[in-house]
Parts: sequence; structure tokens; C-alpha cells
Amino acid sequence: MPERRENSEPILEVRDLAKHFPLTQGILFKRQIGAVKAVDGISFDLYPGETLGIVGESGCGKSTVAKLLMNLERPTSGTVRYKGEDITKLSGRALKAVRRNIQMVFQDPYTSLNPRMTVGDIVGEPFDIHPEVAPKGDRRRRVQELLDVVGLNPEYINRYPHQFSGGQRQRIGIARGLALRPEIIVADEPVSALDVSVQAQVVNLMEQLQDEFGLSYMFIAHDLSIVRHISDRVGVMYLGKIVEIGTETEIYEHPTHPYTQALLSAVPVPDPETEDGRERIVLEGDVPSPADPPSGCHFRTRCWKAQQRCAVEEPALALPENFADTLPEQPVHHPSACHFAAERTAVIPPSSR
Ligand SMILES: Nc1ncnc2c1ncn2[C@@H]1O[C@H](COP(=O)(O)OP(=O)(O)O)[C@@H](O)[C@H]1O
Ligand code: SF4
Ligand SMILES: [Mg+2]
Repeated sequence: MPERRENSEPILEVRDLAKHFPLTQGILFKRQIGAVKAVDGISFDLYPGETLGIVGESGCGKSTVAKLLMNLERPTSGTVRYKGEDITKLSGRALKAVRRNIQMVFQDPYTSLNPRMTVGDIVGEPFDIHPEVAPKGDRRRRVQELLDVVGLNPEYINRYPHQFSGGQRQRIGIARGLALRPEIIVADEPVSALDVSVQAQVVNLMEQLQDEFGLSYMFIAHDLSIVRHISDRVGVMYLGKIVEIGTETEIYEHPTHPYTQALLSAVPVPDPETEDGRERIVLEGDVPSPADPPSGCHFRTRCWKAQQRCAVEEPALALPENFADTLPEQPVHHPSACHFAAERTAVIPPSSR
């Protein structure tokens, strides 16, 4: 919950982080003809024990952010500070030490687990890289403990991934992520490939493990509804940028950015009467290419509120001018990258239509 943040320093501080992949032409003489701006200057903090949800359509740069945090990609610019130290500049032993504390859980438990390795070898593999965590003679017991922690029968230790269901395989991936007792888990769409009925079970397990081990989560998803329950705060991404960030209440009940409002208008509401009277915002056109993003506001080619100013002036992710005199405890008081940020009546009563 947000209270967790009040008395603590961030465990991770991300500032102006960018990753531009060069676009090249020619075979013998490669020349750079442009760049895919996968991540284009994003900043956020992650606090101990908190879950920060990151949501956005496919291709908006979520996985690239995850890889930058894990130091699996080097940023074009910007910094990632873990407990105050910029980890993007680390290498060798110092990098290895930090990596132990930041682990990843991947989207697809089918391809991220080696089919020829037993579950015991998969979950215990991080101990090969960090033998100091579990001495050889103790590993089998440690792996069985981890299987138990994620709700799998410890006797399955010699089985292979194909002998498990999708949900069970994701539990194996989570057990592996926990092996080194990390402080941070970056989960890149951990339930997107699972059946809807299994998604909630895996999310619940992750919440339970968070409390048990005091973990901080970055929970990435392409759907706002999946992260709502687990997230303390949510950041919404569009074309390499965070466009709005705030607490669960701020984002889901009082969104002020047109893109967040459009995404939320597509989430079904359980109450049929409310559902009936709701106005859906249908976004026209496709997401532009990150190799050639629109000038000014990246969202302007699909925004129904766009004006001349939006093409020339890029909106910063900050408290919008409109809400400058609101109090911090008011839910509209949160960063939103829009020149014309405003609350929108999410539900239109049928009588007034
Ligand atoms: N290694 C790479 N080289 C070139 N372009 C890449 C690379 N990785 C990702 N991209 C591009 O960067 C953009 C963001 O990708 P990604 O971070 O995977 O988005 P998401 O996870 O939100 O779907 C996409 O346009 C993708 O094609
Ligand atoms: S800045 Fe302009 S184009 Fe961008 S979201 Fe706001 S109104 Fe739409
Ligand atoms: Mg992805």
C-alpha cells in the first residue's frame, strides 16, 4: 500500500532512461539510417515492498524497460539507481552482486524453461552462478523448499517442464526467480500467456510471496485490469514514454490522461446497468512506429482532444497546470503528460444520452 512509501527511500530510482536501437542499411558498409526509440526518456521510483504496475499496448517498450532494469541491455542514456548506485555503469563482480538482488519472471513459461532440464536443475540453476547462496550438498533441499513455497509438490523435483500445466510452469519460473532471495522481482507479463482462470491464482501467489519475503515488484502487463488488484501504483506507457502515473485510486478512478481514459473505457464493468450507459472511447488508427514518433505529444495522432499546441510542445510527465491548485490528497493530484489533462465522466447515465 502507498503507506509503505512514506518512511522509506526508493530501492530503485530510474531517471530519463532511454533505449534507441539503431536502424541500419547496407550489408558491407552499414550505415545508421535512424533509430527505434523503444524507450524514450522515462523516470520513476520503486519503493521497498511496493508493487508498481506498468501497463501499455504491445510494442510500447515495456520489455525493453525490464531488460534495462536487469542490465540485460545498456541504455542509450539515463540512469538506474539501486540503493543509490547507478547500476547501468557496473560490470564484472559488482554487476553480479547487484543482479542477485534483482530477478526476473518472464511471460512465457513454455519458452523460458529449458525442456531438457529437470525442474530441480531449472530452479537450482541460479545457485551455479551464486554458489555462496546454497552450498552444493544443500541444494536439493533448498530447491524442494522453493517448490513447496510456490505450491508445487517437492517430489516433482525430477520431472520435466512438459509434465506440468501452464500455471504450474509459471510457478516453476517464480520459484527460480526466488532462489537467490532477491529484493526486487521484475515480472514481464507473468500471467499474459495463462488461461484467465489460472491468472488470478498466480497473481495471488505472487502477492502472498511479496508479503512473506518483503519483495518489491515491477509488474508489467498489457491490460489495466490484471494489475489493478496487485498494484500500489500504476504507470501507463505509450510509445516509449510513461504518460500517467499514480496510485490505484488515482489511475482507475480519476485518470486525467486521454490515453488512460481510453484504455479504461474498454475494460468491462460487472454491473450491467453501468455497462449499458458507458461511453467507449475507440482509438482511431494504429500505434505509430517508434522509429518515427509524432512530434510534440506522441499520442496526438490518436487523441480526440489534440490541438495545435500538442504538435509542437511535448507535454512533461508532471502535475498538470489544470490541477496546480489541488491538494496532494485529492486524487486528480498526480503526474499526467497532457497539456489538457482533465477528469472525464467515465460513466454517462443512460437518461442523459
Ligand atoms: N533488439 C531490438 N532491436 C530493434 N528493435 C527492438 C529490439 N527490441 C525491441 N525493439 C523494438 O522496440 C519496441 C518496443 O519493444 P518492447 O520493449 O518489446 O515492447 P513491449 O514489451 O511493450 O511489447 C518495438 O517496436 C520493438 O520492435
Ligand atoms: S497533450 Fe494533446 S495530444 Fe497529447 S494527450 Fe493531451 S490533448 Fe491529447
Ligand atoms: Mg513485452
